[in-house]
Amino acid sequence: MKIVTIVGARPQFIKASALSRAISQHKSIEEIIVHTGQHFDANMSDIFFDEMEIPKPKYHLDINSLSHGAMTGRMLEAIEKVLITEKPDFVLVYGDTNSTLAGALAAKKLHIKVAHVEAGLRSFNMEMPEEINRILTDRISDILFCPTQTAINNLQNEGFGQFTSQIVLSGDIMYDAALFYKAKADEKSNILKEFALDKDNYILATIHRQENTDDKLRLTNIIQALNEINKTKRVIVPLHPRTKKLLEIHGIEIDFTIMDPVGYLDMIALTSNAFMVFTDSGGLQKEAFFFGKYCLTMRDQTEWVELVEGGFNSLVGADQKAILSTFTIWILKISILA
Ligand code: UD1
Ligand code: UDP
Repeated sequence: MKIVTIVGARPQFIKASALSRAISQHKSIEEIIVHTGQHFDANMSDIFFDEMEIPKPKYHLDINSLSHGAMTGRMLEAIEKVLITEKPDFVLVYGDTNSTLAGALAAKKLHIKVAHVEAGLRSFNMEMPEEINRILTDRISDILFCPTQTAINNLQNEGFGQFTSQIVLSGDIMYDAALFYKAKADEKSNILKEFALDKDNYILATIHRQENTDDKLRLTNIIQALNEINKTKRVIVPLHPRTKKLLEIHGIEIDFTIMDPVGYLDMIALTSNAFMVFTDSGGLQKEAFFFGKYCLTMRDQTEWVELVEGGFNSLVGADQKAILSTFTIWILKISILA
């Protein structure tokens, strides 16, 4: 069997690390990796392939930094050429980025079967580019690997019972990655020392979601809240290049510690030793849970509703007051539980 795997963005390298390792143990399966180039800085791409020993891509399409339509369109055209050459039995796509949609669409139009890992997730916010990518990818996928029962329920509510696609409750591939690399992170990461961070005494935050970065008011609110919190608990942010650009454009001042994006091992070290996590990332919300950290999600919705229902995650949007008051409540809860 021949599989072509499409990756392009940071979270997809992390997801692919777990599955590509498993695939490589089956001699009867040949996997060819296509990197769309969506993420391209060394610390957004190469570092993951090196550290996590992900097989090197056979094709690198170098498509990035474009509008949604231009990026997805050029990827579609370039992936189609690869698929015509490689003639795989399956195309494997992960998550909800433009690379995901382009890969699934190129394959489906060539009548190649599509497997979607992290299928069925929904925020029910159709203004999110990721929501559009997910819905379209799910609809044209042949095998839908769902991380949660909620994801399966979402698909059933959308009428997937009447389609021929196969729905599988596979569990969360990010959990496999977190479990596998935790020991390596403990052994190799030096990031706490490098930034003089005290274990369990700093807040790890990330911000990159388009709805937060491209809205000056939301971005300013979030940064001001983090500046304020930094007065009582040190805040550190590995800064996504998208956010870095927009902070510069808007001239928003930062009082907390920023660092360039880090590799996965350093990120696991930062997450597992944090006091709390503040984020708008999908992946990091779950990693906070995996490592027993409370998470404040700076979005209006989350796809990981179980974490909110279970009391591990609070949705605070980009509302400065909500961020500060929820932080205070969590500090009290954590001290009572300690
Ligand atoms: C993309 C995904 C998002 C995912 C995120 C993971 C889409 C629609 N969005 O968002 O779902 O959560 O990846 O991080 O696919 N840039 C660099 N260097 C890089 C990568 C990006 O400078 O290595 C810049 C680009 O030039 C661009 C901006 O960051 O200006 C945004 O990049 P893009 O890939 O369009 O979207 P992300 O915000 O990264
Ligand atoms: N991550 C990382 N280095 C960083 C920031 C994040 O390795 O500097 C990891 C994080 O631990 C998680 C994944 O990247 O596994 C999440 O990616 P991101 O937040 O970019 O995208 P999302 O999950 O929101 O799509």
